[in-house]
Amino acid sequence: MKITSADFIKSAFKKSGWPESELPEIAFAGRSNVGKSSLINSLVNRKGLVKTSSAPGKTRSLNFFDINNNFIFTDLPGYGYARGHPEEIRKWKPMVENYLKERGTLRALVHIVDIRRKPDELETMITKWARGAGMGYIVVANKSDKLSKSKCKSAVLELEKAFGGDVIVFSAKTGVGRKELWGVLRPFIER
Ligand code: GTP
Ligand code: MG
Repeated sequence: MKITSADFIKSAFKKSGWPESELPEIAFAGRSNVGKSSLINSLVNRKGLVKTSSAPGKTRSLNFFDINNNFIFTDLPGYGYARGHPEEIRKWKPMVENYLKERGTLRALVHIVDIRRKPDELETMITKWARGAGMGYIVVANKSDKLSKSKCKSAVLELEKAFGGDVIVFSAKTGVGRKELWGVLRPFIER
């Protein structure tokens, strides 16, 4: 995919703050610190477009980005940055759930997971929301650079079993999986 422009549109906590747009949209969700923001930067080849941080909980609101004046990428807040903190989940859940259910232009959800972790309860819930809403649903196993090739293979097989579908091996650090992910996303952003 040739990226001619990538621009921050706005940040929103509530539906009233979502940008009004007819453009097809792709959202990126997952646990805190799995690399959602880094993965978006890697996809669009812009190191600093989306703010990233080694301290979990960097992205707290929905962040909308215009790509090529042609489609929108939405960086969703992660969960799990305040481990076991019910208040955190209480805020996160409706923000993400309402968005997935009510964003009419949303074509697909990219669900980013850490290749080294088994799915948790909330990850399973995200899968259900996306499949229930009938949008495209793509699981991406990020941070594959942290494992050897053979460990990656077995980890992906486990994740494919757990999520019940294909999983794309990715590294926002090295760019592994970029081409494959664009290949899967392309049909969702064609108008
Ligand atoms: P929140 O906004 O807190 O939900 O986090 P996030 O999912 O957006 O993660 P972010 O992109 O901010 O990355 C978190 C940390 O993981 C940063 O220190 C990144 O540099 C690092 N990171 C992200 N992707 C990769 C990867 O593929 N490999 C490695 N080794 N590190 C990564
Ligand atoms: Mg982030």
